[in-house]
Amino acid sequence: MDLSDESTGGQTFDLTVAAVDEEALVDDTAGVVAVDRSVHLAGAEGALLRADEIVAGYVPGVDILNSTDFYANEGELVGIIGPNGAGKSTLVKAIFGLLKVRSGTVTLAGKNITNTEPHRLVARGLGYVPQTNNVFQRLTIEENLEMGTFLRPERFRQRFEFVAELFPTLAQRRRQRAGSLSGGERQMVGMARALMMEPHVLLLDEPSAGLSPMLQDEVFFQTKQVNAAGVTVVMVEQNARRCLQICDRGYVLDQGRNAYTAPGTQLIEDPKVVELYLGTLARAR
Ligand SMILES: Nc1ncnc2c1ncn2[C@@H]1O[C@H](COP(=O)(O)OP(=O)(O)OP(=O)(O)O)[C@@H](O)[C@H]1O
Ligand SMILES: [Mg+2]
Repeated sequence: MDLSDESTGGQTFDLTVAAVDEEALVDDTAGVVAVDRSVHLAGAEGALLRADEIVAGYVPGVDILNSTDFYANEGELVGIIGPNGAGKSTLVKAIFGLLKVRSGTVTLAGKNITNTEPHRLVARGLGYVPQTNNVFQRLTIEENLEMGTFLRPERFRQRFEFVAELFPTLAQRRRQRAGSLSGGERQMVGMARALMMEPHVLLLDEPSAGLSPMLQDEVFFQTKQVNAAGVTVVMVEQNARRCLQICDRGYVLDQGRNAYTAPGTQLIEDPKVVELYLGTLARAR
């Protein structure tokens, strides 16, 4: 796909995902079920966004991501789940250029974007909503959205119409300060701001965190809507079950390694995943 063509309208998407090869699962001494790279390599061919053998960390000599593989096909909604501290946010930050990739490559539409600065990635069609602090509290909803188009202010009006359709509440309350909004509404503003630049891929880090069950429902619904509007979505989630229910394909990350990838509904029913990850996560709730 040519990212200079910013139109996503009318495109059809191939949602085919690689089936999990049971034989490719390798039991690891740490109890992590690691996936043979051949599954990734077969699935990642032609993917819109891919990360190969990513090694990254915060402290010199300590790697949090240990050769992590990831891909998202055009039009896919991909979930990333895993225990606290597994490296989910770290993976998304490494993809978005917020954390230096020590080795490995990140590719967007066939172009190497490893360690590219975030604002350049935004211009190339990548959007990111962080886990926390995702709105400018002192600014109004409208001003927050204007910040979203700071690279191309002339597009504000047209993009505002697009996000107002997805998030009518935000349009109605455009003059309200973001600091006075509820957690769920702030999530909406964060997502809407990222959408102002018409991203081809949207990276969401735990959009439902800290929200009431009803607002969580809303966030999952909106994420699905954004995806249905043609945006490839990568969603990190603590709410593993809900995430797997709506995503086309999910990743289970553990100790900075890919533990497993398969269609979401398949992961929910997989006894190994339930035992190792969903059970633990459900108990932690
Ligand atoms: N800024 C930082 N400096 C040093 N270590 C960090 C930093 N951020 C995260 N880490 C460490 O990196 C590891 C992975 O953290 P990360 O935030 O990626 O986990 P996560 O899977 O997103 O967890 P959670 O579900 O709690 O959000 C953890 O051990 C964490 O302590
Ligand atoms: Mg996190």
